[in-house]
Amino acid sequence: MARKIGILTGGGDCPGLNAVIRAAVKVGIERHGFEIFGIEDALNGLIDLDYQSPDGNRWLRTRDVHQILARGGTILGTSNRSDPFRFVVKDAAGKKHETDVSDQVIANAKKLGLEGLITIGGDGSMRIAHRFLAKGLPMIGVPKTIDNDLGATDQTFGFDTAVGIAMEAIDRLRDTAESHDRVMLVEVMGRDAGWIALHAGLASGADAILVPEIPYRLEPIAKMIERRRSQGQKYSIVVVSEGAKPAGGEASVLEHLPGAMPRLQGAAQRVSDGLSRLLEADMRVTVLGHVQRGGSPSSFDRILGTRFGHAAADLAAAGTWDHMVALRGDDVVAIPIVEAIREPKRVAPDCQLVATARALGVVFGDES
Ligand code: F6P
Repeated sequence: MARKIGILTGGGDCPGLNAVIRAAVKVGIERHGFEIFGIEDALNGLIDLDYQSPDGNRWLRTRDVHQILARGGTILGTSNRSDPFRFVVKDAAGKKHETDVSDQVIANAKKLGLEGLITIGGDGSMRIAHRFLAKGLPMIGVPKTIDNDLGATDQTFGFDTAVGIAMEAIDRLRDTAESHDRVMLVEVMGRDAGWIALHAGLASGADAILVPEIPYRLEPIAKMIERRRSQGQKYSIVVVSEGAKPAGGEASVLEHLPGAMPRLQGAAQRVSDGLSRLLEADMRVTVLGHVQRGGSPSSFDRILGTRFGHAAADLAAAGTWDHMVALRGDDVVAIPIVEAIREPKRVAPDCQLVATARALGVVFGDES
């Protein structure tokens, strides 16, 4: 009888998810003889086997993954609100509260005869995966996120595409900034990590880059804008990470709903409001938002996703559960999930990339 495994995508979508699914399904079915169950919308499809969504849970065939390599999003759907250990349900009065439905997941996986799951997700999904091992449902992790904040892998897929989109957007904003002598503030995603801001800012020649890891003051930014003006450069570009914090302050949170991460937004507007009290300038704020998560993956993300999918299918075949695939140098390796979730990856204020930016005159807001 064929061995059976499940596959799912969890957390926010990101470019390259379909590349992983395609490779894992092709390698899993054609090389290892697996039957592979596609679970809809993260673990929602295993919490409730009758979970209704456009495609729903289904046993995947290789033809289901044809023509998806270049597609953004995920053919399996995803959710960042389906942690079975903290699942949000409504009581009779319509009030929402969190409950543990992990036993339902286990029972349904057993019913389907699944030996284990390949879970493609960020740090939250890896934590969930590790907890399920103790309950008898082993998983293999594949790290994804545009935020690139997983410590155990040199890079997550999705990040390269997101940086490319942000860079192109900033290039376009520069044209208007230059034509109208404006200060353009661009808010990019990344949650508590400044990787997207730092890379996109460097790649597009931004004048200031504000990241969560380096709390900022407004004075150095205002000074930079004035200095550029006095040198004849009447415009400036300020890239602001959504998680950027003023010195002594907190990130700008839009809302915090039960069972979800806080939604960050407003960081760039806050900088703009503050700067307008220090100098007279025509300022505009652009929040790039989910544009950074959509569209066709870059060649780097397609290749990394494909390598991760292949490696995950091989690990499942070897029975090497509770491991996450990771990029280390040129190699894709497997590391225990517990190690993978130990440390998030943050921008070190004294790292080479920051030093290079500073050497080129980029302001981070912590200058004296
Ligand atoms: O983790 C990926 C990410 O895009 C973050 O950069 C961002 O803060 C968050 O997800 C947005 O989440 P949502 O799609 O729930 O608004």
